[in-house]
Amino acid sequence: MNRNHIDTIARRVMIGRKAHSKRETGYIYYHGTRVARIALELLDSLQFRSHWLCRWLCNLALPSRLRNCLVKATCFAGGLLLGSVSTINRDTLFVAALFHDVGKGMEPHAEIGATMAREALKGIVSDHELEEIGSLIRMHNRRGQGSTMAEHLIQDADLLDHFGSQSVWLCFYYSSLSDKPGEEALEYRRSTDMKGYLEYCRKNLNLDLSRRVLERRLAFEDSFFSQFKRELSGRL
Ligand SMILES: [Fe+2]
Ligand SMILES: [Fe+2]
Repeated sequence: MNRNHIDTIARRVMIGRKAHSKRETGYIYYHGTRVARIALELLDSLQFRSHWLCRWLCNLALPSRLRNCLVKATCFAGGLLLGSVSTINRDTLFVAALFHDVGKGMEPHAEIGATMAREALKGIVSDHELEEIGSLIRMHNRRGQGSTMAEHLIQDADLLDHFGSQSVWLCFYYSSLSDKPGEEALEYRRSTDMKGYLEYCRKNLNLDLSRRVLERRLAFEDSFFSQFKRELSGRL
């Protein structure tokens, strides 16, 4: 699969579209490229952690029976995890994540997006891959219903892309759209809508790893906005 060629197709299909009145034109393309990279990075991190933990336990200075038990249990759990991640096709994961919101703005966008991606990629990827990509796109927002690791990775990557520096960008973008001063960006961030969205995300992330990434991104936001607040009040 030629990812560069597929990226050119994704750009052509999505870059000129304004899928949401409160989002910039082309957002779905750039959001898609980030979600694709985050999904692959989560996958790499899961594989690395599982291998690393088994190796570390093997070298621990523990009574041999205890160490063997721990290694066995970890290999079993790691094997389950590795089994679920090693069967993932990285190409279809990447392409499905890239196109996951191609139908945004036309509801149900997951269903419509799956059809649009099939049309855009027909003859570029195999029929089997097309099937898999369509299924992943259909599942990207059915949180709590995903059953495969690939579905979980795309669902989590999609949520994570709304936090950290992206959240800072969105606060100011929304404020400027409604011609509000910077001070009101802080109000938006403290709004019930935003708090509800964060609660929803915390509840619906599939992986512990994603939850840790979310908290790291939130810590960055807190630090940025507390400095912003200091400067808004004219402090040095
Ligand atoms: Fe979506
Ligand atoms: Fe999305």
